[in-house]
Amino acid sequence: MPPSPKPIAIIGVVSVVLCSLYVISNKRRATSHSRGKTLTKNKVKRNGIVGAIGNTPLIRITSLSDATGCEILAKAEFLNPGGSVKDRVAVKIIEEALESGQLSIGGVVTEGSAGSTAISLATVAPAYGCKCHVVIPDDAAIEKSKILEALGATVERVRPVSITHKDHYVNIARRRACEANKVAVNGYKGGFFADQFENLANYRAHYEGTGPEIWEQTGGKLHAFVAAAGTGGTVAGVSCFLKENDPGIKCYLVDPPGSGLFNKVTRGVMYTREEAEGKRLKNPFDTVTEGIGINRLTENFKMAQLDGAFRGTDIEAVEMSRFLLKNDGLFIGSSSAMNCVGAVRVAKLLGPGHTIVTILCDSGMRHLSKFCNPEYLSQHGLTPSAKGLEFLHLGGDS
Ligand SMILES: Cc1ncc(COP(=O)(O)O)c(C=O)c1O
Repeated sequence: MPPSPKPIAIIGVVSVVLCSLYVISNKRRATSHSRGKTLTKNKVKRNGIVGAIGNTPLIRITSLSDATGCEILAKAEFLNPGGSVKDRVAVKIIEEALESGQLSIGGVVTEGSAGSTAISLATVAPAYGCKCHVVIPDDAAIEKSKILEALGATVERVRPVSITHKDHYVNIARRRACEANKVAVNGYKGGFFADQFENLANYRAHYEGTGPEIWEQTGGKLHAFVAAAGTGGTVAGVSCFLKENDPGIKCYLVDPPGSGLFNKVTRGVMYTREEAEGKRLKNPFDTVTEGIGINRLTENFKMAQLDGAFRGTDIEAVEMSRFLLKNDGLFIGSSSAMNCVGAVRVAKLLGPGHTIVTILCDSGMRHLSKFCNPEYLSQHGLTPSAKGLEFLHLGGDS
């Protein structure tokens, strides 16, 4: 029996709708592709917030690439769920502590940090059924405690004292983990001190994550990597991985004012003019850049395989951030800006035709009160005024 006209009409309508949807979806795919995104049908599902960490895009910084004749590429770490490169470190520290039994579900991770690592630990701890306790100096911006508390961490604000004092915030954080263990019962480990400076889980996060991602995203075709160091975890993990895969890849440090690492890398000694002249400031790292620069050798930094170092200044970092905002629409934080200063220095050293990779650690959103605050910058003589990259004085101060 021939089909009745009614089902034929329905089949016809459904076919038209399906064809239209196919055309629209293909059009969308083409549009996305032209914006630099490709919707692949095999997109892997990632598990929860932890699964969303890492695999960040490697962005070509067009303005710096055009200006130098090199390919300047940067890992967009500000796109991690906790807003910085430190998400990788927080996950690795917690996972290794859980695996080794030093931390148990329900336990508390403690850290002495006013920066990104504390925010990342507070962000990921609940995903492991853990709590987070952060000890910070009471002169740190109040927004930092507010963010941490909003994330569910407990925050202890303490008087700023020297690192050698038992009540330095890092030492208190270590003590809080021990105290949590003392009250724990039946072998249950109550507390774990994250210790991002000395804990080599930090280095491993970059050796197993950031480094391999850079290698894959460039197809192994890169000539140099450059970044500043705070704990040293990033430069250590990435440099070790890249050199293991191609010893010809050059790895460099870019160091902010007040830090002793430039001298350590170039001359083998930790020494800064500020300290030698006895003019040690209240904050020995008297720089507008945050999270980078240090005057001691950490276990993480000791792992780094570096070919050289550059100095970067505060005004260069500020100018670079404004240059990238104006030319590329990149709103980045102070350490990222310093890393880009380093990338241009490396480009000048190697000459055109090289591929150089660096890190965009966090976004300018985290730096509204100082680095991105015109009033603050003006008070510190750091008002940007450059038209292009002339502020870099590329006369060869490597
Ligand atoms: C925003 C930011 N950028 C860069 C760094 C430096 O990275 P690393 O500690 O791996 O040397 C830090 C470290 O705390 C940081 O907080």
